[in-house]
Amino acid sequence: MNEISVSAPGKFVILGEHAVVYGKPAIALAINKRFYMSVRRDNEFKINNEAADIRANPHLKYILGKNDMLPVSVHMDSKIPTGSGLGSSAALSVAFSAAMRSLCGGSLDESEIAKEAFEAEYFSQGRGSPMDTSASAHGYGIALNAQCEKDELLWEITKNEHTWNISKINVPSMTFVIGNTGVRAATGPLVEKVRKYKDSNGFAADIVDDIGKITLEGMNALRNNDIVGLGELMTKDHKLLSILGVSSNELNKLVKASLPYAYGAKLTGAGGGGSMVVLTDTPDKVCDAISSHGGSPFVVRTGVEGVRVSVKSE
Ligand code: MEV
Repeated sequence: MNEISVSAPGKFVILGEHAVVYGKPAIALAINKRFYMSVRRDNEFKINNEAADIRANPHLKYILGKNDMLPVSVHMDSKIPTGSGLGSSAALSVAFSAAMRSLCGGSLDESEIAKEAFEAEYFSQGRGSPMDTSASAHGYGIALNAQCEKDELLWEITKNEHTWNISKINVPSMTFVIGNTGVRAATGPLVEKVRKYKDSNGFAADIVDDIGKITLEGMNALRNNDIVGLGELMTKDHKLLSILGVSSNELNKLVKASLPYAYGAKLTGAGGGGSMVVLTDTPDKVCDAISSHGGSPFVVRTGVEGVRVSVKSE
């Protein structure tokens, strides 16, 4: 019997969150924190050796349904912190899609895996963009909604008459520190807050446009390996996100404490709590600054590969 081993990376959003909801570009980078999973056929559905109710795991249920509903035993080991905007749920869906496709003889094409995993996330959460699942499937860096050269376009995903184009960015290996505030904040209400602000205040629409412009500049900074320029854009983006009302005292404190040792720093993901990210070449100093201001830091590297599958025959 075959055992399929899969791993898929987490990600963080370096530029463009919130504005992406209005069709502006956003960039996500895969990180060297991965979701590991092994899957084998069994006579009932099991997670980590215990019988499990598939209905309690909607994204797994969606993917099983697309793959003959085969009963399988799944072993999971995630190195991606949960609930901090680092894409752990998307990495799980990408890993499980790849594993089930491998087990059932389906296509292991990255674009097919990214699309199936996005559908699973959408099925489970009833909303969302394909940013996290595409970053996890492809690795390195991806941009959503960016005008790109033909050879940079990875795939397009359409849902409810909305089409996203996903392009690749060849990301250099860089060091970032992620600082978790420890405050959990749900994405939905923050997206709604920006929508209300934008509907009632013309300046908010300008801020969304400015975030879009900064993100395009960030793509060029990444293409040119311009770390200094990229850091400055991150800090500018944090200020614009603060004006939109999605930062928090905790996030601002961690950003301010990190900046003396950094090229740039900003909140990452929906905001309101969650995590911030710092581009630095002195990660130890940044980790100390974050810890001494109440956050939990960890160092990540970018420029890492996407979903990987290996098959062990017994
Ligand atoms: C959350 O990680 C990013 C947001 O832009 C929401 C979304 O794109 O679905 C805030």
